[in-house]
Amino acid sequence: MKTQTAMAPSNGKATAKKTGTAASNGKPAPSKSTPSKRAAGKVPAKKDAAEELKEFLVDGLKDLYWAEKALVKVLPKMQKNATNSRLKEAIGSHLEQTKTHVERLEACFSALGQKAQAKKCDAMDGIIKEGESILEETEPGSMRDVGIIAASQKVEHYEIASYGTLAAFAKVLKEKKCLDNLLATLQEEKNTDELLTSMADTHLNSLAI
Ligand SMILES: [Fe+2]
Ligand SMILES: [Fe+2]
Repeated sequence: MKTQTAMAPSNGKATAKKTGTAASNGKPAPSKSTPSKRAAGKVPAKKDAAEELKEFLVDGLKDLYWAEKALVKVLPKMQKNATNSRLKEAIGSHLEQTKTHVERLEACFSALGQKAQAKKCDAMDGIIKEGESILEETEPGSMRDVGIIAASQKVEHYEIASYGTLAAFAKVLKEKKCLDNLLATLQEEKNTDELLTSMADTHLNSLAI
């Protein structure tokens, strides 16, 4: 690994100019900063930061491996909470596809000469948690079904973005076997998203009447 070259102070801590200082009326000025008080500025890289595109690809595969395995666990809960039979069926068939997605990622790791390894994907973890909270916030029936479809589409969109990006990396790296596996899954994620869109239209129309 290359030594760290980021322009960080020697103590490794990022510094940022203070914003939102007291306004003339004594109250703090409105700030556009995020609630988590993240400091602006250059972020020093971790020691194990990716230096090559292949490493970046493998990192992305680890994230998706975690995400797909988490989805295999949560989809049965979504299916159980859905009321509409078409929606239940769609979730069930995507669950079977998701198990294949896990296997395709394993094939990708193997094609790249890497051990299959999962790394917690914070983004997918958040999307799944949001989906679970939608269940608590809706009564079973059409409203909950609409919530399940909305949550599922967020999952699919994240997957589409991730598989699309990793497929682009694999293409540039001429990793044909990995690319073929990523594209096969990408197509299934897109098909699922389209199916969910058509179901959302039907459900929303029925609620609007
Ligand atoms: Fe998937
Ligand atoms: Fe999916």
